[in-house]
Amino acid sequence: MAAPAASASISTAPQLLSCKKPSFPRFSTVRCSSLSHKTLADAKSAITDPAPVFRTVESFAPATVANLGPGFDFLGCAVDGLGDIVTVSVDPSVPPGSLSISSISGDHPAAVSKLKRNPNMNCAGIAGAAVMRMLGVRSVGLSLRLHKGLPLGSGLGSSAASAAAAAVAVNALFGGVLSAADLVLAGLESEKKFSGYHADNVAPSLMGGFVLIRSYEPLDLIRLEFPSNRDLFFVLVSPEFEAPTKKMRAVLPEIVRREEHVANASQAAALVAAVIQGDVRVLGSALSADLIVEPKRAPLIPGMVAVKKAALEAGAFGCTISGSGPTAVAVTEDEEKGMQIGKKMVEAFMAEGRLTASAVAAKLDRVGARVISSTTSD
Ligand code: HSE
Repeated sequence: MAAPAASASISTAPQLLSCKKPSFPRFSTVRCSSLSHKTLADAKSAITDPAPVFRTVESFAPATVANLGPGFDFLGCAVDGLGDIVTVSVDPSVPPGSLSISSISGDHPAAVSKLKRNPNMNCAGIAGAAVMRMLGVRSVGLSLRLHKGLPLGSGLGSSAASAAAAAVAVNALFGGVLSAADLVLAGLESEKKFSGYHADNVAPSLMGGFVLIRSYEPLDLIRLEFPSNRDLFFVLVSPEFEAPTKKMRAVLPEIVRREEHVANASQAAALVAAVIQGDVRVLGSALSADLIVEPKRAPLIPGMVAVKKAALEAGAFGCTISGSGPTAVAVTEDEEKGMQIGKKMVEAFMAEGRLTASAVAAKLDRVGARVISSTTSD
């Protein structure tokens, strides 16, 4: 998809003068679009070179499962426990109005060694700088530390989590003026550069829960509330294999047959209904029913076809590729069952794909990217 020249409508920003997470009703629409002349004028007068409210802000952004089968590029959700951490600090040694990356650390040495400290070549740097531009920051320089909890190219929205954490941290440092939709646009600047113009990772990482991207131009996001009294576990099985998103997008068809379109559209609609109704069985079977993307990508991930079969035989309600892979995601409503399903999937990755894999059973993250600490002085 060509990247539209979208930018955040920040004319409504003064209504959100708070660092608190916006709260979302059960079914809510968050809409933002390209700046009109009027909103651009409003934005300029509303927010100009803000002063920092904190000296340092540390934020966490969760991993995500994008696509959820038939929701290619328009559905995703956040998962609990896994994610990246970004710390931004006011730094007088950094030129005013700019951002520098002072350190990159993490749980996956291979990922850390591949990431660049040039902020224009780093997801967190690009998103953090985009938020600075949206806010009109000109008098303050920032330094950013990135701690990667997620491996690269895993299908768990690693680049989006870094971008989301940076966007939230920079916004909070200046008082939390921008809306969730603005931050999604900042995150999209980074996604566009590294994996393609799709928001199905960065939107749920920022907003938590399930997010439907109704349109990209204008950006129109619908957050879907999974009922709080229902259990839902994602069994995430990650093999030691890299599947770069750009490569996994290159294999997808430009044109699809009418029957495939009808089948995928109806399953995606069922999936959305299942999320709102909290019906994990239907959610799983709809997620498992992608006829367009999964069949092209699965053969590129050694063992994936067998892994899906193993998950379903072990009692999962559904299984597909998480994002562009190679992680496989299965759905269940019981954590212990999830671990049993994960064990079978790990065995199948080894038996059929000759790949070592690890499994976790993760809940839905309902909160999204958040500030975890802040300081006002040295
Ligand atoms: N929707 C994107 C894709 C997600 O499947 O290519 C990548 O994580």
